Amino acid sequence: EKGGYEHFMLKEIMEQPKAFHDTVSPRIREGKVVLDELTFTPEYLRNLEKIYVIACGSSYHVGMAAKYTLEKLLRKPVEVTLASEFRYCDPIVTERTLALVISQSGETIDTLAAMREAKRLGARVLSIVNVVGSTIARESDDVLYTWAGPEIAVATTKAYSTQLALIYLIGLSFAETLGTITPQAYDAIVDELRRIPEKLTEILNHRERIQYLASIYFNHPSVFFIGRNVDYAVGLEGSLKLKEISYLHSEAYAAGELKHGTISLIEPGTLVVALASYAPLFEKTMSNVVEVKSRGADVLGLTTADLEADMASVVNHTLTVPQTHPMLLPSLDVVPMQLFAYYVALMHGCDIDKPRNLAKSVTVE
Ligand code: F6R
Repeated sequence: EKGGYEHFMLKEIMEQPKAFHDTVSPRIREGKVVLDELTFTPEYLRNLEKIYVIACGSSYHVGMAAKYTLEKLLRKPVEVTLASEFRYCDPIVTERTLALVISQSGETIDTLAAMREAKRLGARVLSIVNVVGSTIARESDDVLYTWAGPEIAVATTKAYSTQLALIYLIGLSFAETLGTITPQAYDAIVDELRRIPEKLTEILNHRERIQYLASIYFNHPSVFFIGRNVDYAVGLEGSLKLKEISYLHSEAYAAGELKHGTISLIEPGTLVVALASYAPLFEKTMSNVVEVKSRGADVLGLTTADLEADMASVVNHTLTVPQTHPMLLPSLDVVPMQLFAYYVALMHGCDIDKPRNLAKSVTVE
């Protein structure tokens, strides 16, 4: 049942090229994103004032990446809220608000309750769900399914990747309708989307290097993930993956925020995972890397193959992903983060598929 792998988590990590492909390719026809499931009129999209992304945990982290993507593509404000906070913050919702609800299980009670509240306040609900026929899917105005297949490991991997894939498709589809993207930019992103599965396979084929790095760093008691823009969004997920399955203390910070307090925690031997794949901000993040290095941190850097040489001279070790469209980087970057967490947890002998205190689907508030 684990397909020859020791854990469901590794099996599901390895399934990501297929899951991404299955989610994306039926929805691209003749170079165009076609979301048959959706019923949005051009008029609705033009009148749309705001998108509220509502989710918990890793699905919320997809929302964090979605904010950068959707705001860039649509030039509409996107607010990302934790479902458990949304209901109690008197959210500003009108008929011109789209609630974009993200949930693997479709049963997370906080997400469901927040979604009902958004609906009550007049929002239209579009959900991204993995489990077909789940409560969130049934109660949404529109639903897009991630075709990830069943996810057994408590820590999500392929669901995260396919949720993100749908964000790109939604962004492209809405942007085309709104006229907020040039045909050239649209084609460039679609082309790169199609190539993500092969690039994921390339990353997975080199997982031994990540296992080797995990064997070097697994004993560091405290880990900080830093990055800017989409790299920050992936850092949040990398940090959650690590803490939930390996029980190491870890935190994720926007790289520029570190010096406003958290840098006081950096001391010789602290591990900093620096994500700097987003080329426009590479130099900015690297300046933060220099700051932590000079305080004695060990730095594991993640960037794209073309920037590796520039990074390698500053950090202790590098991890690379293939180049792609900057908007799509989280799809590649997250995989080394998942594998790093997996191998660290393996070194610690943790119960990887069923981490302590956690449930796959959280149906209590
Ligand atoms: C982390 C993880 C959780 C879920 C969260 C939301 O690996 O799996 O943080 O992402 O509980 O669950 P769904 O997406 O089912 O609503």
